[in-house]
Amino acid sequence: MNVILLGPPGAGKGTQAESIVKDYKTVHISTGDIFRKNIKENTALGQKAKEYMDKGQLVPDELVVELVADRLSQEDVKQGFLLDGFPRTIFQAEELDKVLLKNDMKIDKVINIEVEPEVLIERAVGRRVCKVDGTTYHVSFNPPKTEGICDHCGQELHQRDDDKEETVRNRISVYTNQTKPLIEYYTKQGNIANINGQQKIEAVFEEIKSALGSEQ
Ligand code: AP5
Ligand code: MG
Repeated sequence: MNVILLGPPGAGKGTQAESIVKDYKTVHISTGDIFRKNIKENTALGQKAKEYMDKGQLVPDELVVELVADRLSQEDVKQGFLLDGFPRTIFQAEELDKVLLKNDMKIDKVINIEVEPEVLIERAVGRRVCKVDGTTYHVSFNPPKTEGICDHCGQELHQRDDDKEETVRNRISVYTNQTKPLIEYYTKQGNIANINGQQKIEAVFEEIKSALGSEQ
């Protein structure tokens, strides 16, 4: 099954992706995670992306589209993929449609997680992420068993550079102007499911499972 996860920053895309890939045989493709890995490894792509990410702006379309087109040409995605954080502009969505057509693939479902702005800020500012395996926590809503330590690998948790309140506000306004129009784009394509993201993490996942059905 091929799925797109849509939603504003802090909506819970990454959190739900962790559960979806466990239950469905899909490969998680997060453009944000790919950029963060490149920043950590100090690659040329990472250096370019960091300039935009630190300000809460989108990385230019041409860099992202090429990266995703390349990822979707790899063998493992044939079992199904979950796009998290892509597409984020109408241009990216149109380019994705072309890539899918070329590779004889289609999107089965677009999952749109809806959360109000004030809740998003609280979520992003309280988020903590494992430096090693990327598991996501929240200081109040989803705390690790031991403060500051990953439950899975015992390594330190850290705060993302773009999770300062001012940067989160910028990211939300970028979302409203450039990404929200995708809801209409996919509503026209007829395969979108709007999910209430303001429930407990497990309840959100139940709603997503109902939308995805038992299809694998
Ligand atoms: P990206 O990494 O994609 O970030 P984002 O879209 O801003 O989303 P987040 O990862 O912040 O939030 P999320 O929805 O995954 O929430 P999470 O599950 O972590 O992008 C970062 C940057 O990279 C962009 O700003 C841009 O510069 C660049 N970029 C990436 N893709 C790009 C593209 N396609 N084009 C151009 N630029 C691109 O949850 C958040 C917190 O809330 C966590 O602490 C979690 O524990 C908690 N939480 C989750 N669900 C719940 C719940 N139901 N109740 C209570 N708490 C919850
Ligand atoms: Mg994320």
